[in-house]
Amino acid sequence: MYEEIAKVVRNCGKIAVLTGAGISAESGVPTFRGKEGLWGKFRPEELATMDAFMANPEIVWEWYNWRRQLIGEVQPNPGHYALAELASEIDDFSLITQNVDGLHRAAGSREVLELHGNIMFNKCVKCNRRAPEDIDIDPSNIPACEHCGGSLRPDVVWFGEMLDREVISEAFRAAETCELFFSVGTSAIVHPAASLPISAKQAGATLIEVNPERTPLSDLADYYLAGPSGEVLPQILEALREHS
Ligand code: OAD
Repeated sequence: MYEEIAKVVRNCGKIAVLTGAGISAESGVPTFRGKEGLWGKFRPEELATMDAFMANPEIVWEWYNWRRQLIGEVQPNPGHYALAELASEIDDFSLITQNVDGLHRAAGSREVLELHGNIMFNKCVKCNRRAPEDIDIDPSNIPACEHCGGSLRPDVVWFGEMLDREVISEAFRAAETCELFFSVGTSAIVHPAASLPISAKQAGATLIEVNPERTPLSDLADYYLAGPSGEVLPQILEALREHS
């Protein structure tokens, strides 16, 4: 199977990859859905919406500080590294992620389309400007934007919010023009990200899914690779190198 996939990869000049929380699971970052998922323990509408932030910014910031601390302590895993290395083997490679943990960059991926933002950055709730890095947020005394005085919030996309127009357009362009699309570690149910593999397939790309569990995408995929991405992706890379 890996030999066959290596051949498909080798014959493609243009590859796009979409990752979700599952690729960071082996680093120790909890996913959102599933038995141990964050949304089984916390209510998204109380923590990840503008209404929640307006009603109770302190609680929202406490939750994001907890996640920041957790993410600050973890390292990329072999799945992140395999994608960074794959990029160097392919002429045209786009990496799109729903993750806000920054682990793809930490693994050496240079260009990453972060659809849902990055948890380590802050932005203004009013004027939307990104705040300087490295501001520690005290939830009981939230700093104000230096431009307009609005409260600072994490630079992530909350439920009900639009994605950055340029970032999502670039992601669709990559999906619709690639020859091979990988969907890795995502439950493939949150749109618009979940539309990317479907658009790629409709435009004629081969679709490969990597996930230990089946998803709504599995039946559409040309190859469904059941397993953790930290094992499956390095095996693809290894097969690719053996074949070149
Ligand atoms: P989910 O938590 O919905 O799904 C994680 C997926 O990863 C599941 O399909 C798991 O089977 C799979 N998985 C678990 N361990 C894995 C491993 N070791 N290797 C590969 N796959 C594994 O996470 P997302 O699909 O990323 O949005 O969720 C999408 C969005 O929903 C998130 O970006 C977030 C959330 O609400 C916002 O916060 C806006």
